[in-house]
Formats: sequence, C-alpha cells, structure tokens
Amino acid sequence: MRLVVVSNRVTMPERGEKVAAGGLAVALRSALEKHGGLWFGWSGTTSAEPSSRVEPVRLGNVSYAVVDLTEAERQSYYLGFSNRALWPLMHYRLGLTDFDRSDYAGYLGVNRRFAKLLVPQLKPDDVIWIHDYHLIPLAAELRRRGVTNRIGYFHHIPWPSAEVFGALPFSATLISTMTAYDLVGMQTQTDADNLIGGLVALRGAHRDGERVKAGPRETVVRPFPIGIDVESFRKLAVASVRAATQPIRATTGPLGGRKLVIGVDRLDYSKGIVQRLEAFGQFLRSHPEHRGNVGLLQIAPPSRSDVPEYAELDRQSDEVAGRLNAALGEFDWTPIRVVKKAYSRSALAGFYRRAQVGLVTPMRDGMNLVAKEYIAAQNPEDPGVLVLSRFAGAAHQMGEALIVNPYDTHEVAEAIRTALAMPQSERVRRFERLYATIAASDIGWWTSRYLAALTGAEAADKLAPPE
Ligand code: F6P
Repeated sequence: MRLVVVSNRVTMPERGEKVAAGGLAVALRSALEKHGGLWFGWSGTTSAEPSSRVEPVRLGNVSYAVVDLTEAERQSYYLGFSNRALWPLMHYRLGLTDFDRSDYAGYLGVNRRFAKLLVPQLKPDDVIWIHDYHLIPLAAELRRRGVTNRIGYFHHIPWPSAEVFGALPFSATLISTMTAYDLVGMQTQTDADNLIGGLVALRGAHRDGERVKAGPRETVVRPFPIGIDVESFRKLAVASVRAATQPIRATTGPLGGRKLVIGVDRLDYSKGIVQRLEAFGQFLRSHPEHRGNVGLLQIAPPSRSDVPEYAELDRQSDEVAGRLNAALGEFDWTPIRVVKKAYSRSALAGFYRRAQVGLVTPMRDGMNLVAKEYIAAQNPEDPGVLVLSRFAGAAHQMGEALIVNPYDTHEVAEAIRTALAMPQSERVRRFERLYATIAASDIGWWTSRYLAALTGAEAADKLAPPE
C-alpha cells in the first residue's frame, strides 16, 4: 500500500525552509516524510502550455509529481473560484464572496486535468488522500475515470452551515462531489456537522450518525483535528531562541524588562490582523503604564496579493500600524512592528519562545497551527501565555488559553493585560495542560488516525514508500 497525497500547494525540500506560512504544507510535509509516498499537485508556477504529463522526482522517501498551470488557470481556479469564492464563503464572509461562472469552469477544468494526469501514476493498492478546498471535485473526477481505490479528503479550513454554503451558485452540485470520497476529515465536530447538514439540506442525502449517503457510496465524515510535530518544534525553539532574539535586540535596544507580544499569520483577512493591531492600541490606551515596556511584533508574509481584498488588507494594515505608532510611540520606542516577509521555521520558533504573549486572534480559522507552535516553543519553567480566538478550530482543544472574541477589541485588549500580569504558577499550570494536549494529538497521531480510518483496519505504518 502506498500513500498518494494530493494538494494544491506542494513544497519540495530543496526550495528551502521559508516556504510555508500556511499550515497545510508544513503538516503534509511532516506526514509524508514519515510515511513516504507520492505528493502530487500544482508546481506553484505557470507556463504557456498546460502540462500534458508529469514526471515524478524522488527526494528521500517522497516522490514529487507537480503540474504547471497556465496563467488563465491560475486566475480562474486558484485566485478566482478557490480564493475569491470558496475561501471567503467558508470563512463566513459572504460579503466578500465573488462568484464568477468562468472561474468556476476553470476550477472544474483544473480538477479534471489533475485527475487525468494523476490516473497514470496510480497503482491498484494506492491510498489516495486529497487536501483542501481547491480540490473538492477531484475524487468525483477520479471515479469517473474508473478509480476504485480508497480516496479520502481532508478539509483544512472551516465548513459553514448549509444556510451560508447554499448561497454559492451550484452549491448542490459541488457539495454532491463530496460523496465520491470514502472518508472526509474535518477540523472540528462543528465543521463535520455543517457538511453533513449541507448534504442533507442541499442534496437530500440520508444521514446515519457520521455516515452520509446520497448515491451509491457511503461517506464517513469525522473530525480529525490537525496537529504539529511538537517534539521537533520544541527542539527547534530551544536551539534557535538565542539566534532569533539577536535581531530583536538589535532593533529595539536592550530588551531589559521590555516584553514581547507576537502574532504570526499569512497576510489574510481571516486572520484578524487589523483588528489585532487595534486591540493592541486599545490595550496601550487603557493601560498606559505598559507604554515603553512592551511591543507587538506582527510577522505577516504576503499572500494571494493578486486578489483585491488581500491588496486592500496590505494597505489597511500599514495604515493602522502607522497611525497607532504615530499616536502612541515615543522617540525611543515603537509599539508595533509589522514585518511583511516570511521567516524560517527556526527563526519563528525562537521568536515564539522569546515572546511573553502569543496573540492568535483569527476572525475564523480551520485550526490555526500557530497556536500549537507557540505552545510547543515555550520554556516550561517560564512559559508565555496564549491568547486565542474562540473562532479558531484550535480553541476546541486549547481551552486553557485565554479565549477571546476577536470582534471585541476591548476583550482582546484586556486579555493582553491579563496575560502580561499572569503569575508564573498559573502560566505554568496552563502551559502544562496545553502542551499535554498538543503532544497527545500531534501530527503523527493525526496522520495515523486518519489513515487508519481511511484504510479500514489497516495500520497506517503498513504504508510503504515508493519503489
Ligand atoms: O490551510 C489553508 C490554506 O489555504 C492551504 O490550502 C494553503 O496551502 C495555505 O492556506 C496557504 O495558502 P496559499 O496556498 O494560497 O498560499
């Protein structure tokens, strides 16, 4: 049995460490390096002619098979339907959802081409694991070409209620394609219930607990909250904290008693970055005794910049940070630093360990692996405090964080104050529980649990690397 992973984004090791601000690529890389297998998806680049065949490249125990898109496909499938229609819709942002029929046609076309190029790579015993909203109809396309292998899907982002999903034109057709999968994994029980509810409401599917049927096949829909490689990340943080704090020292002067609050997110409106900056400003206004003693470092690598809503967020975040710094800063202290570039995983681990507060306040998020990375990176004897949005999937597991409503600026501001004032004994108590949770449900646990469910009784460690 061989594992075949398919995702829009594929990260190959030689492209360096600064690749993935999104959780999916990091998580899949860890899972595949452990099990071996084939990773199939978009190369991330465009070419004049669509790829008509793929040549897998073997690196370590993973083979990579990547497909170029044409510029028109990138526009319609990736920027258009995936990121201007599905992304905002699935993050409950109907007002930002922009549906275009030609984008939808492009989305279906790329899924068809992926299926056509993947079929010749498949062996009868392969277990196929497809990831995320770019590829919802892929299993239906593979089934149409006669593929009978076990096919699973994991949805990394939220799945909204039928009321919201139903606003998408062709929502019934699209949601039906989910029934071509044997197993659908969701981040939370809420997401699983929403998908099943959608299949019932929009397709008249029959539900029996976690099993749903709308055609010949029965599909199991179950939550599998994704994790991180906790132990490796902890080690990375221990190893890099000194190196990572050097640059902070250089730009802010001696840290002394100065505390650090950190946010790390792709520059995406779902992450609540602007609202977070406002909350930090509110915190400094309500608690002026902290001025000069604490700074917010927001790392926000640009993402999907060709989508107008992302370009607008880029502008808006600069404006808000500039306004707050001008109003609240001093000649020798800048309260907010927004850095719009990607850092290596080791630098991030060091920054997390150095920060007294991790601010993870998305307006809506499938899981949010930064919350887990922040905890994994802490010093157990003197840990920092996680402030976490109740709308992140991670909040379902990480109740010992300070849970906040990101729409309530005052509540987030007060949580920052509480976090900074929290006694060490309480910080240690919260940290220990959070660490135990993320360690017990790490990336290895997630992969094994999902693959065991997908392959039936088969243990995931039976999966063989490619020949
Ligand atoms: O985790 C959600 C997700 O959309 C992934 O599918 C994706 O790889 C990641 O965020 C980063 O986004 P993008 O691939 O569009 O840069």
